[in-house]
Amino acid sequence: MKIAKTIKEVREIVSEWKKLGLSVGLVPTMGYLHEGHQSLIRCSNENDRTVVSVFVNPIQFGPNEDFASYPRDLERDTKKCEEAGADLIFAPEASEMYAEDFSSFVDMTGPTDELCGLRRPGHFRGVCTVVSKLFNIVTPDRAYFGQKDAQQLAVIRRMVRDLSFGIEIVGCPIVREEDGLAKSSRNTYLSADERKAAVVISKSLKAGQEMIEKGETDTAKIIASITAMIESEPLAKIDYIKAVDADSIEPVDTVSGRILFAAAVYIGKTRLIDNFIAERN
Ligand code: PAF
Repeated sequence: MKIAKTIKEVREIVSEWKKLGLSVGLVPTMGYLHEGHQSLIRCSNENDRTVVSVFVNPIQFGPNEDFASYPRDLERDTKKCEEAGADLIFAPEASEMYAEDFSSFVDMTGPTDELCGLRRPGHFRGVCTVVSKLFNIVTPDRAYFGQKDAQQLAVIRRMVRDLSFGIEIVGCPIVREEDGLAKSSRNTYLSADERKAAVVISKSLKAGQEMIEKGETDTAKIIASITAMIESEPLAKIDYIKAVDADSIEPVDTVSGRILFAAAVYIGKTRLIDNFIAERN
């Protein structure tokens, strides 16, 4: 497995592939890979070559967030990439991505105004900026993002459309632990008790989904039921539970069209997100 540390190396390798007429998939990650990331790499194997970027992007973390403690282990990530069939890892240092006087950012209004965009000011500016850079460096045909970060997926789709990137964005399903907890690198922060408590997030969302299957269309009632279930868990503290249009991320009152039910919940000090999409015409 080749690990490129510089933009120049990636450009040289990808340009050789392109000369041979090979298609290229990109899986952007912040490392500490788990089966969720591996499923993205496996989706990307529909391309002739797959590049995985491993970069804990400083500019998408707020001042009181977990940038410093975010788990990092490139050796472990390399094995996971090999297992899943990736061809190249791009693992730059922050100085390779951001010059000291870096001052150009990709900003967005609309899909970034709700959910994590509201709760984490500047987060999506950081995500859009680094993903744009990765798109310009790797020039993939397709890029793969997890549905667990549903707002991020909607934001990236909007950015690619608005800025005419000409890259196909592929959303891949959430991968879960056996008890339903969505896989996340941040699950490693949980103590044994917190890990047990964390299952309340997926359980409550599943109960909400069942209400819709039984005919409930009032998003306030569904959110109230999800909220009550999560509040019954002493280690859980809700950051937000919201129903929004899955593409525009605008709040909705009724389940009609593609509706994203998104939750952000603190389990102890760890902030976890999860969601489901309901479709009804
Ligand atoms: O989803 C993530 O891990 C990050 O937000 C991403 C897309 C790799 C950008 O840093």
